Amino acid sequence: MTADPSVNAGGRLLDHNYDGIQEYDNPTPGWWHLLFIGSIAFSLIYAAVYHFEGPGRDPHEALASDQNAYYERLFGDLEELKNEPQVLLALPTRDGGKWQALAGALFIQNCAQCHGAKGEGLNGPNLTDDSYIHIKQITDILAVITDGVGAKGMPAWGVRFNPNQRMLLAAYVASLRGTTPPGAKAPEGDPAPPWPAVASGAPLGTPVN
Ligand code: HEC
Repeated sequence: MTADPSVNAGGRLLDHNYDGIQEYDNPTPGWWHLLFIGSIAFSLIYAAVYHFEGPGRDPHEALASDQNAYYERLFGDLEELKNEPQVLLALPTRDGGKWQALAGALFIQNCAQCHGAKGEGLNGPNLTDDSYIHIKQITDILAVITDGVGAKGMPAWGVRFNPNQRMLLAAYVASLRGTTPPGAKAPEGDPAPPWPAVASGAPLGTPVN
């Protein structure tokens, strides 16, 4: 068999010949090459940014900054909460309970390992009974949360949470009083007088914006 000479018009028929079978040099089109090289270049940049934590892409940092943005948005519509009985007592039912839910989540994440998921007490004291080590009145709770009790293993949360978050936690702790979770630890400290009753329609302060 002789090859049709028109097939090799551009001299692109390769030299070797295997049992009459010859190879035609048929290069991949330019667009294909571009795509090939482009995808390699893209993969290098992608790997640098997403796998080797390129600048600003550390997933932990990204999560923390997303969380902060979320909290800022969330707290944006809460005025600076004052440490006053009526503010503390009103928080659990305020805005359909959304602040109480948020405080509950903070409590589970940060406090439950020592105080129990329901405040029943583990190595930290029971927060649901009438006895307290450091608290005589409802407005004392904030200071314990803020400053902690270093010698006894209660962390100081002032470095970790902003004032409103600590107020939400204080209100949450106050609201645990009188609940009777199963497995509650024996009371520690001294009985505190009951929290004051909330005067109905008590002023809550006005939103800043
Ligand atoms: C690492 C363990 C630990 C964690 C976490 C912890 N606590 Fe405590 N907490 C303690 C201990 C221990 C005490 C008792 C301190 C003492 O005996 O003086 C305490 C005491 C308290 C008290 C005072 C109780 C009283 O009887 O006077 C409050 C209120 C409190 N914690 C709230 C919180 C809140 C809110 C959080 C989460 C933001 C939290 N704690 C997280 C260990 C912890």
